[in-house]
Amino acid sequence: MCGIVGILGKEPVAPLLVDSLRRLEYRGYDSAGVATLEEGRLTRRRAEGKLRNLEGRLKEEPLSGTIGIGHTRWATHGRPSERNAHPHATDRLAVVHNGIIENFRELRQELEAGGDVFETETDTEVVARLVTREMRKTNDPAKAVAASLPHLRGAFALAFLFDGHEDLMIGARKGAPLAIGFGEGEMYLGSDALALAPFTRTISYLEDGDWVVLDRTTAVIRDAFGAKVKRPRIQTSAGAFLVDKGNHRHFMAKEIHEQPEVVGRTLSHYLDMANGRVRMPEGLPFDWKAIDRITMSACGTAYYAGLVGKYWFERYARIPVEIDVASEFRYREAPLSDKGLALVISQSGETADTLAGLRYAKDCGLPVLAVVNVPTSTIARESSAVAPTLAGPEIGVASTKAFTCQLAVLACLAIGAGRARGTIDAAKERELVAELVKVPGLMADALQTETAIEHVARDIAKATDVLFLGRGTNYPLAMEGALKLKEISYIHAEGYAAGELKHGPIALIDEEMPVVVLAPRDAIFEKTVSNMQEVAARGGRIILIADAHAAHDAGIEPAGTLVMPEMAPDFAAIAYAVPAQLLAYYAAVTLGKDVDQPRNLAKSVTVE
Ligand code: M6R
Repeated sequence: MCGIVGILGKEPVAPLLVDSLRRLEYRGYDSAGVATLEEGRLTRRRAEGKLRNLEGRLKEEPLSGTIGIGHTRWATHGRPSERNAHPHATDRLAVVHNGIIENFRELRQELEAGGDVFETETDTEVVARLVTREMRKTNDPAKAVAASLPHLRGAFALAFLFDGHEDLMIGARKGAPLAIGFGEGEMYLGSDALALAPFTRTISYLEDGDWVVLDRTTAVIRDAFGAKVKRPRIQTSAGAFLVDKGNHRHFMAKEIHEQPEVVGRTLSHYLDMANGRVRMPEGLPFDWKAIDRITMSACGTAYYAGLVGKYWFERYARIPVEIDVASEFRYREAPLSDKGLALVISQSGETADTLAGLRYAKDCGLPVLAVVNVPTSTIARESSAVAPTLAGPEIGVASTKAFTCQLAVLACLAIGAGRARGTIDAAKERELVAELVKVPGLMADALQTETAIEHVARDIAKATDVLFLGRGTNYPLAMEGALKLKEISYIHAEGYAAGELKHGPIALIDEEMPVVVLAPRDAIFEKTVSNMQEVAARGGRIILIADAHAAHDAGIEPAGTLVMPEMAPDFAAIAYAVPAQLLAYYAAVTLGKDVDQPRNLAKSVTVE
């Protein structure tokens, strides 16, 4: 899951490639590199680590070529190092790759048997050597690429630059996204519209199996069978300017603070507040009354949003929901009801496993509704209908505002579905809409407790293990809170259903173990109180996230309390996400971790 870019330009392209790679760094930041033609000869600059290291290299040894390719890497095969950094090159070509070549071992053996000597541990080098082998036969770059692509199994988006060819670039895609950008006498390739936004708004997405031969004025696209094809040109709205951190130290902090606004914006899109009604997305290709099951799939934080959504769909619309992490769903050959609806959830809209789950459901004949944040993404384009989250660009690797916007959309969809199916009446719909409308304000109130959270987080930062507990919709939130803490502070954390504690995890509890309990005043608050008593009885240190009277009413003395405003329980999980996120954020800041770009992670996971 890397970012790739290619430019056939009029001016030196190295600074432009770096500008574009900065927008793609969310896909990986283990290493970065560029290749250009310097007086017709392939020349590379590569550096391990973040893009700024490559920038440093380019300052020391600038490049002046007007055609070039660039790459930012999330390592899959071969450790992060300059040697394994893209572009990979031979004497004939350089290539950048996003994806995984699954049969690279057999290809490598075959090429080595033919005399090739490999320089790296990557799967991508086989592509460079395979195409070079074909070039030696035909001396024709396009024919060489066409002859090589059928040998590659797995997922790839590729951009090739050829030694001695100042006006030629070739791109190919299968299973990983690649877009062509059209300029005035300039041409571009990029992993997404965001990467191309500084250069052009006119783009075409290649379809699976497509490959394209570009010069500065034309793009000849062929499908997997070699037939010339046309792909629609669209105007994107991806902003040319990078979003900044505002007054915040990190994007994550900014995005946490934006939540009242973006959740409010998302709710306004779905709610007719004056009449207390939900506005469902237009043109849904199914009738809610006919749906007998919803099958959800998603990954990571989006999966936890789906788990919360399951409670709402089952409660308000009385539709049974099954939900899987997409990496399991795509392979488990689930029998799907022909009256079913598939619902996928994704911030980026590019997550490989979620996309595969979507395709499985489509192949089974189900309509697919996507709750997605990037409207131009592959998942948005391949779904039958889209329910957008209006979170705006999310840059921090740890998802925050996208999560709460996903929750807001799922709540609206569940209420709207309930109304369409007659499982809630107009009065109940009005009541629930009125509760939802309060959520952004409650989130703003929750943000006011930041100083207290910072204080408690310093304590959490000393722990090696942390438990998060919740019931009902706060059970998935407990898992999300634990994920946030793991991702950015590297502290081991687990989220459990509070009632499950006594079935095993209680054995972990001692005086050292912080136990974060998410306990809004819901119908099962008393049950959560019993679980807290169990923790307290064993000397556990409870960090209570609840209203001001909860500790007193529960008869416990928590080691720390994050006080939440009083609220109705239905959508409390959306507001309660705020302290869980801030707790992780301040723990990571206390430990001096790289909050926005934590080790080993990438924002968009476009490989399996
Ligand atoms: O872009 P998506 O929502 O499909 O991404 C899914 C997960 O990769 C993502 O939520 C991941 O778990 C985040 N890093 C969580 O903070």
